[in-house]
Amino acid sequence: MAKRKGITVSRQIMDSQMLHPEATGELTGLLNELIVAGKIISAEVNMAGLADILGQSGKTNIQGEEVQKLDVFANKTIKRRMEQCGYLCVMASEEEDGIIPVLDGYEGKYTVAFDPLDGSSNIDVNVSIGTIFSIHQRISSGKQGTEKDLLQPGSRQVAAGYIIYGSSTMMVYTTGDGVHGFTLDPSVGEFFLSHPDIKIPQTAKYYSVNESYTNYWHDSTRAYIDYLKEIDPATGRPLSLRYIGSLVADFHRNLIKGGIFLYVRDKKSTDKPEGKLRLLYEAAPLAMVVEQAGGRAITDDGRRILDIEPVDLHQRVPLIIGSKEQVDIAESFFLGKKG
Ligand code: AHG
Ligand code: MN
Ligand code: MN
Repeated sequence: MAKRKGITVSRQIMDSQMLHPEATGELTGLLNELIVAGKIISAEVNMAGLADILGQSGKTNIQGEEVQKLDVFANKTIKRRMEQCGYLCVMASEEEDGIIPVLDGYEGKYTVAFDPLDGSSNIDVNVSIGTIFSIHQRISSGKQGTEKDLLQPGSRQVAAGYIIYGSSTMMVYTTGDGVHGFTLDPSVGEFFLSHPDIKIPQTAKYYSVNESYTNYWHDSTRAYIDYLKEIDPATGRPLSLRYIGSLVADFHRNLIKGGIFLYVRDKKSTDKPEGKLRLLYEAAPLAMVVEQAGGRAITDDGRRILDIEPVDLHQRVPLIIGSKEQVDIAESFFLGKKG
């Protein structure tokens, strides 16, 4: 007899909706639309080596970065599904300069900001990449949403998560009742619950930072990374360095195994005075996930990521995120209390 498959992600979302009698089912519908988009992108990512969608699209995005064809495909796929799902009033994407409207007559009460494909530099070398999403409830009245609906602090997100296209495709999300992980079974095209109620280990096993910037680091960063290289008496060894160059992949490994990821300000980033990562669709959604899993997410001057009031769709933010105990230690270095 075939082994009974587990709980599908749609069932889990429905179950968590039941926890909220006031729920109308719109958030459930929205998450299900994102899931479909994730399945479509996953199929394309897994075919990327064969189909002619590798390589440059010849375009650059608002970040001034070379846009890869898979980026374009992922962005289009999500936009197409979201603009007529009836649950959104406005969207924002890393790949688009301004706000993205929904089709007239399809306006709903939520907003979504997304990074359609995170880790683009890894697309054509078969390294894990992902999609990150952040959902808010609109605050403006009227039909189409506005930028104001998107520029809300991460603490007001109603849902956040990511889909990681790796050795398997996984969806990890939270609606504020814990973090749940689902693995795609391509043979049936369903995401099944594989990681219920994820809690990030309190102590870190890994640290993730791009050490090629060492010569530009501020003293506090250098002191902290040097500290991580000392022998940890608890384990008799220093932390292991793992840096994939896809935030979603580095974050996901740290979420499961325990770790800390840093992308902070340095002396060279004159054009990016706040570091490289974007608040709305990278730092804030992952900060909600990590806090729901018992971890922390702060900036290199001690601000809680979820408390930051955004002023621009694509504003960047320094990010220190991961296991609570290790973020606490990092914070003491960056606030000058240690090192
Ligand atoms: P994206 O591909 O969406 O632009 O994001 C890339 C980001 C993030 O995924 C990763 O952690 C970081 O860029 C790597 O930057 P460096 O190459 O400067 O380390
Ligand atoms: Mn990204
Ligand atoms: Mn991206």
